[in-house]
Amino acid sequence: MTQDELKALVGRAALAYVVPGTVVGVGTGSTVNCFIAALAEIKHQILGAVSSSVQSTARLQALGIPVLDANQVEQIPVYIDGADEIDHQGFMVKGGGAALTREKIVADLAERFVCIADESKRVAVMGRFPLPVEVIPMAAAQVTRRFAVAYGGTASVRPGVTTDNGNLILDVRGLAITDPLAMETEINQWPGVVSVGIFARLRARVCLLGTAQGVQTLVFD
Ligand code: 5RP
Repeated sequence: MTQDELKALVGRAALAYVVPGTVVGVGTGSTVNCFIAALAEIKHQILGAVSSSVQSTARLQALGIPVLDANQVEQIPVYIDGADEIDHQGFMVKGGGAALTREKIVADLAERFVCIADESKRVAVMGRFPLPVEVIPMAAAQVTRRFAVAYGGTASVRPGVTTDNGNLILDVRGLAITDPLAMETEINQWPGVVSVGIFARLRARVCLLGTAQGVQTLVFD
């Protein structure tokens, strides 16, 4: 199976986690686009979606799925999103699509994060994928220096990208994320950091992994 076929497979498998009569949290990215396409088939069973990006909002609305403002929603049962890397505990690196901050906001509304990913995303130690960090533009150079000193990482501004929130993305190379919770907590304290793409506190509880043998369901307790 191709990577696109694996994404379509897990995108459809995620329908099983959508709770009828509720609002579903929707992430961002090519795997989520497959989920959105499948979700359209059962759109009459849900109240609508809370979206993590302008891009996903446009797709949802084009398919006739109502999109609610996050401020209108107190809690949702499930948030479905992809990942750039996921480890054996459900910790993830995200933000390849520059939507990490809104993804964290919607994930935080949800009781359960269901990650959908093809098997290339599963890693033993995160860090090979450059770590995305959303920063206030005036802090980009300072945060870059801080990564070098604190972790020996090399940060660079993602060219041509402004986030939905009007900020920049730094991509940080050369990291070994051996303690995701500690690293997330530390980087979140740095002035100018809006959010870091380590999803440790908001980790996945379930991962639907697309493999050559079909969908593998990983449950992280
Ligand atoms: C966007 C994300 C995506 O979930 C992540 O980049 C995975 O994307 P894809 O499904 O296209 O591989 O975090 O900010």
